[in-house]
Amino acid sequence: MALKVHDPLFAHPSESEFAQILDFYGIEWDYEPASFPTEYDGERVVEMFTPDFYLPQMDLYIELTTLKQSLITRKNRKLRRIRELNPDINIRLLYRRDFHRLMAKFGFGPLGASETPVLDRVLFGTGQIAIRVGELGREISTDYDGKDPVLVGVLRGVFCFMADLIRQTSVPMSVDFMSVSYYEHDETTVKITKELDIDLEGRHVLMVEDIVDTGMTLNYLLEYLRSKNPASLEVCTLLDKKARRLTDPELKYVGFEAPDEFVVGYGLDYIEEYRNLPFIGSLRVDAGDAANKAK
Ligand code: PRP
Repeated sequence: MALKVHDPLFAHPSESEFAQILDFYGIEWDYEPASFPTEYDGERVVEMFTPDFYLPQMDLYIELTTLKQSLITRKNRKLRRIRELNPDINIRLLYRRDFHRLMAKFGFGPLGASETPVLDRVLFGTGQIAIRVGELGREISTDYDGKDPVLVGVLRGVFCFMADLIRQTSVPMSVDFMSVSYYEHDETTVKITKELDIDLEGRHVLMVEDIVDTGMTLNYLLEYLRSKNPASLEVCTLLDKKARRLTDPELKYVGFEAPDEFVVGYGLDYIEEYRNLPFIGSLRVDAGDAANKAK
C-alpha cells in the first residue's frame, strides 16, 4: 500500500505497518521529525535520541520498539532523560507486546496468526456490570432530561451494552447505529460501512462504545459526528483501556477502567468469538500454537 503522507525508508517493517494503521484512521504523522539531546558534555551534545513518530494532532511522540527487554531498558532511560530535559514533552514507548496486540486486534501479526487464547479470569461479573450500567443510565437520564438525545452505537461490540443501557434510562431518546471497516493491509482509510439513519443536525448526541482502546476509532468517529452539526456530542464507554491510548478524546461517562489485557464477553470479541459471554473476562494468550486464526 502506498503511504500517503510520506514515503520514507522505514528502519523496520513494524514502523511501516504502524504508519499504515495511522493513515487508516486519518491520524497525521511525521517519521523521525526531531532529535532530542539526551547527554551533554558541558555545552556539547554527546548523545541524541530520535523518536520514530510524531503525531501532531495529539502532540505526541512515539517510539516503537520491537527490541529485546535489555535494549528497552536503555531506551526507557533515554526517554526518561528526554522528559527531564523537556518537561512538557508527551512521549510514549510502544512495546513489542503493544504492537502485537494492536496488530492482533485486526487479525494480523504473530498473536493474530498463531495462538490459542484461553479465558483467564473474570474481570467484571454479570451483577457488577448490571449495577454499573444502572448507575450510568440514571446519570444519563438526569443529564439529558428534556433533551431528547440520540444514542449512537458503533457496531458490533456495543450491542449488549447499548441494549442494557437504554433500558436503564428513563427519558425519551432515539437510538441509531453505525459501523466502520476494519484495518486491512489493502485498505487505506477507514470507511463508514453502515451509515446513520437519523439526522443529527441540532440533536444532543451521545456516542456509545463498548471499549475505547487506542482511541483511534473514536477519534475518527467523533470527527465524523461533529460534521453532522449536533447540538452537543459526548461519549459513553463501558470500558476505558487507558494503558493503550494513543489519541485522547474526552470520555464523559465510563463504566469501568479496563486493565491492559485482551477483554472479551458482553458483546466484545476476540476474532468474533466470546461475544456471548454474560460477563467480561480476559484472555490469556498462549503463543506458539498454530491455530491460524484470521479475521
Ligand atoms: C472495538 C470497539 C471500538 C474499537 C475501539 O471494535 O467496539 O469500536 O474496538 O478500539 P480503538 O480505541 O483501539 O480504536 P472492534 O474493532 O473490535 O469491532 P467490533 O465492535 O465489531 O467488535
